[in-house]
Amino acid sequence: MLEIDNLTCSFGDVTAVDRACLTIQRGELVGIVGRSGSGKSSLLRLVNRLYTPQEGSIRWNGQLVTNLKGRELRAWRQRATIIFQDYNLIPRLDVLTNVLLGTLGGRPLIPAMFKYWPQEVRARAVLELDRLSMADTVFKRTQFLSGGQQQRIAIARAMMQEPEILLADEPVASLDPINAEIVMQNIAEINRDRGIAVLINLHSIDIARRYCARVIGMNRGSIVFDGPVKDLTDDAVAEIYRKRPAACQNPVQSDVRPEGFGPIAQAAYG
Ligand SMILES: Nc1ncnc2c1ncn2[C@@H]1O[C@H](COP(=O)(O)OP(=O)(O)OP(=O)(O)O)[C@@H](O)[C@H]1O
Ligand SMILES: [Mg+2]
Repeated sequence: MLEIDNLTCSFGDVTAVDRACLTIQRGELVGIVGRSGSGKSSLLRLVNRLYTPQEGSIRWNGQLVTNLKGRELRAWRQRATIIFQDYNLIPRLDVLTNVLLGTLGGRPLIPAMFKYWPQEVRARAVLELDRLSMADTVFKRTQFLSGGQQQRIAIARAMMQEPEILLADEPVASLDPINAEIVMQNIAEINRDRGIAVLINLHSIDIARRYCARVIGMNRGSIVFDGPVKDLTDDAVAEIYRKRPAACQNPVQSDVRPEGFGPIAQAAYG
């Protein structure tokens, strides 16, 4: 269980995450939606400890995560692995090597530099790719694959770390609708079949409604909505995306409107 309490993270006079409180149970698939600059990525980065909060705490199964250092912090980053919109793969390497790099946190660097991985680790990497219908790409150069395929490689790499929670920062935002569906189905399967909690940032309300049992809405760093997807009505969406006056923040404007928006929400967004 992930417990976030009073979590606050500022950059200068911008409060990216403002006193956030949140509990996520094992096996939950939770979507995060909100305007550009509302703090969605910062929240995930705080959980993964890429960012350090000024205030508040994060606990995983009762263990305090916010004070971890060194080896323990590296271990936590494997347990709470993160995938990004732009995949973060090494394009000139083959698919298998990119996936195997997911094991680096748990093994010495030198054998990896010589591309030596034990047979059983290589077999597991192929299995992870196969689960995502990617086994036929194992020896292909990553850079020649489609965005959807590259995101599935990134997911396979993340799974090599045997995470307990998967953090996904807009994983389908760069993909065409068909590939976005495939990747969302892959993520939903991982959640359902392995009981891995998933915390996923989405800019599509439609995708959040179809895939997430629970949705969190953020606005100006604050969690302004947290409830079952059935409560994510058009009015609720409008409230999440409502322009709020800046107190001490620089507003981040975006012309990108969320997809799957009803007329009420569209009006509120402007
Ligand atoms: N490393 C950083 N340095 C300075 N400011 C940051 C940093 N990370 C986030 N911020 C600021 O914190 C606020 C929240 O940003 P964040 O990226 O978390 O929003 P977001 O909801 O993910 O936006 P988007 O939908 O555009 O990805 C913004 O004002 C952003 O400029
Ligand atoms: Mg973001």
